[in-house]
Amino acid sequence: MPEAECCITVRNIGPLQGEVFVPGAKNAVLKLMAASLLADGVFEIANVPDIADVTIMSELLTAIGLRIHRPEPDTVVIENTGDLTPVAPYELVERIRASINVLGPLLTRCGHVRLSMPGGDDFGARPIDLHVKGLEAMGAEFKFAHGYLEATAERLHGAHITFDFPSVGATENLVTAAVLADGVTIIDNAAREPEIIDLCNFLVKMGARIEGIGTSHLRVTGVERGRLHACSHETVPDRIQAATYIAACAVAGGELDLLNAQPTHMAMVLARFRDMGMELTPLPYGLRVAAPDRLRSTDVATLPYPGIATDYKPLIITMLSVAEGVAIVTENLYPGRFRYVEELQRLGADIRTDGHHAVVRGVPRLSGAPVKSHDIRAGAAMVVAGLAAEGTTTISGVHHIDRGYDDLVGRLRAVGADIERVPA
Ligand code: UD1
Repeated sequence: MPEAECCITVRNIGPLQGEVFVPGAKNAVLKLMAASLLADGVFEIANVPDIADVTIMSELLTAIGLRIHRPEPDTVVIENTGDLTPVAPYELVERIRASINVLGPLLTRCGHVRLSMPGGDDFGARPIDLHVKGLEAMGAEFKFAHGYLEATAERLHGAHITFDFPSVGATENLVTAAVLADGVTIIDNAAREPEIIDLCNFLVKMGARIEGIGTSHLRVTGVERGRLHACSHETVPDRIQAATYIAACAVAGGELDLLNAQPTHMAMVLARFRDMGMELTPLPYGLRVAAPDRLRSTDVATLPYPGIATDYKPLIITMLSVAEGVAIVTENLYPGRFRYVEELQRLGADIRTDGHHAVVRGVPRLSGAPVKSHDIRAGAAMVVAGLAAEGTTTISGVHHIDRGYDDLVGRLRAVGADIERVPA
């Protein structure tokens, strides 16, 4: 059934029980795919989530000149013959934020790139000034006209770049550009999310020279183009999808084993979940999650990694909506990222927002209603809210959820949730 014509219906029928396999991370795999522009050969990326954004990224990279196929739903094979057209057209760029990640690899490899300017998301503007300033420091020249940016550099050179803010996307673009630059590039105040570590490990397998991986001080020594080669790699597990199943268990009750979850990538958010009364036990192969009778409120603030990611916040606010007590949630990355609050209010949640703060007064139970999914994480939060609501919750805008979630409905059904996709 076409995605646009689908809704998800959810009914609360009590505790969840069983095992959920946590797929690979969207925010890692899209960057790995873009990095495969850097070297000729055949790449094999495993533990790939079966999500719409991977399909869109494949279309974008195919338009640039890569050959991509998926022998299995969780495997992407990418062939780079070196015949690249360094142009990313509007129709594809506007569909996916991670398209900005082709900028660094194309510029450093081809010496030229023409990229449609990425737009914002539903939760606000997504500037790229840090990407541009960093690449300019490495010798790139930028022109902006007719909705496109054009960057040129015969060969980028090393530079010492200190970010005002540890931007995920800018760190990724500069690292991928620096691996083929002339000399040493130092990035201070670099972002150090697990997905960036995954990208750096992938680049090192390709023959790149990167020191300080996992820290906020990255040192990249450029190599000649012929030194980079294709590689095989397994994508890091998705910490946001893992948190989504924790939130589902938290509001529905029960106990889940999250296979392949990586608790060390989630230390701070797991600490808040424990404050809320969740019992979390690391397993050799994942994480066991058990819900209390009722969650307790706790204050939460989003921050760059290792702080609590902004992507967790819609899930956390949903959990707090049915917790005992009052909590203040502070958004430090995207001030406008509260749009889903109106939808939670339609379900009976008691939430007030003021600037980048939300005050959440827990109620015992939400009440099912039709709601909209405005972006990937907000959509997942609506599904979780439906598990905490009396009656039926119907979620529209399912295409947003499909961008980042690999069979959310099937995975929740398999552990006992009353949830299905239905025609709109
Ligand atoms: C990535 C993730 C997104 C996640 C976010 C923060 C992808 C496709 N997206 O987005 O899911 O929510 O990290 O963890 O991987 N900023 C600037 N100038 C810039 C770049 C960023 O001012 O040039 C600001 C942004 O407005 C924002 C903050 O820095 O306030 C964080 O942005 P950044 O870390 O770059 O996030 P993205 O890479 O866009």
